[in-house]
Amino acid sequence: MQNIITTLKKLFYLWRRSQVPLKQPIKISRIDNLIIFLVCIVISIISSYKLLLISPLNISDIFSWFLTFTEILISSGVLILVSKKENPTISSRQIFLIITLLLAVQITKLTLASTISTLSMIIPPALIISQGMGSITALAWVSIASLIWPDPEIVINNNLFFILLVCASIVSLLGGRIRSRAQLLQLSIFVPIGSFLSQWILIGKDKISLISKQDFVLANGDIFSDSLLLAIAMLFTILFIPIFESIFGLLTKARLLELADKEKPLIRRLSLEAPGTFEHTLLICGLAEEATRMIGGDIDLIKTGALYHDIGKLHAPNWFIENQDGSKNPHDELDDPIKSAEVLQAHVDEGLKFARKNRLPKLIANFIPEHQGTLKMGYFFQKAKEKKLDINEYYFRYKGPIPQSKETAILMLADGCEAALRAMNINASDKEALKTISNIIYAREKDGQLDNSNLSKGEIFLIKRAFLNVWKRIRHRRIQYPTSKNNTFS
Ligand SMILES: [Fe+2]
Ligand SMILES: [Fe+2]
Repeated sequence: MQNIITTLKKLFYLWRRSQVPLKQPIKISRIDNLIIFLVCIVISIISSYKLLLISPLNISDIFSWFLTFTEILISSGVLILVSKKENPTISSRQIFLIITLLLAVQITKLTLASTISTLSMIIPPALIISQGMGSITALAWVSIASLIWPDPEIVINNNLFFILLVCASIVSLLGGRIRSRAQLLQLSIFVPIGSFLSQWILIGKDKISLISKQDFVLANGDIFSDSLLLAIAMLFTILFIPIFESIFGLLTKARLLELADKEKPLIRRLSLEAPGTFEHTLLICGLAEEATRMIGGDIDLIKTGALYHDIGKLHAPNWFIENQDGSKNPHDELDDPIKSAEVLQAHVDEGLKFARKNRLPKLIANFIPEHQGTLKMGYFFQKAKEKKLDINEYYFRYKGPIPQSKETAILMLADGCEAALRAMNINASDKEALKTISNIIYAREKDGQLDNSNLSKGEIFLIKRAFLNVWKRIRHRRIQYPTSKNNTFS
């Protein structure tokens, strides 16, 4: 008996550990929760009120309406839970978008079921959700939107329902992975073609009516117009996705890649006005990307976040060692460790201002304060101590917050290791490099900087190996190739 209890406890512990979210969930305010709940009530009413229009109405009808109403309300709740589970940092605006799209589909079904095909109603919103919130949320949304029918008398043809589910699932799965607008365009052409062919094979040949209630008898022409309408609806959706991105703060893969374009004005400014910081940024991108690939994190997110992490240094590039180019160090002239610490903190504060001005998504802006966390500005704190200033360590720490996700934590570790790896002797062994990396990471771990990142011991081990691999690449690049007089090839 004791053994069974111990085994159960172990299993429960493992289950609890497996449920730790990858990122700290965002708290949603009570008002937002209330609004979301009210929208869910409206969806439930719209989707079930027709059950009450039967006359004469008896108790069993009311009971069956109540069951349907509750079922729809619970389904909407499950949809919100799934979206929160897949994306713990989901904001209330994004939940509001998912629920509003469900409401819009229900209203469209009520008003336009006879003129618009079900495919055109459900697939375009699924594309928006998969791009912004991920494939699992989109799949959950599709299953609920396909099942909740406001009119019990309208029964969709089984074959069409099957085609709808297959097409919507393909869009949901691919939509979450697609990395460019061009691929989105391909999807909006190939899915309607696929739906046209499958409708022609499964429905067109048998001449089964599309929706049994209407005098809408399916013919090849109708299948064609339905598929054409779907293609147009998907193309319009792709056109409007950037608007959804800015209104609802969605961060699609395509947007991430656009932001990572080095021709973006802010990045161009960094390369021209703070070339040292730009070089440091590029090396960090390499370290962070390799480490994120090792632990299975979001590579596109960290690459873009790394590009913008030190953008605040643009406010005073010469105050940072990497841009000084052997000239005078303004900190020596200032000779005030407290003021110098303020300049260092300003690169975070100014970075956040740049992010707001340039409308950078919140997930990218988070890299700016979190890459420094509450780290101690050791050099200036030491200077203050040498000057025998009676000052609290607090003034020599960044204001934080400490990294709240695996990606921002990796960036902090890469930021810490970059200078040390760059400065390392070309002849240093792998063991020495790994020791340097381990010491830097251990110092941050001990300082509590990784406490909210959910990085496990195993992942930290993999991050160290990834940084070592990048160091090996750097070393290889720095070894000069032997040249010979007879070398005629280039
Ligand atoms: Fe920084
Ligand atoms: Fe940095």
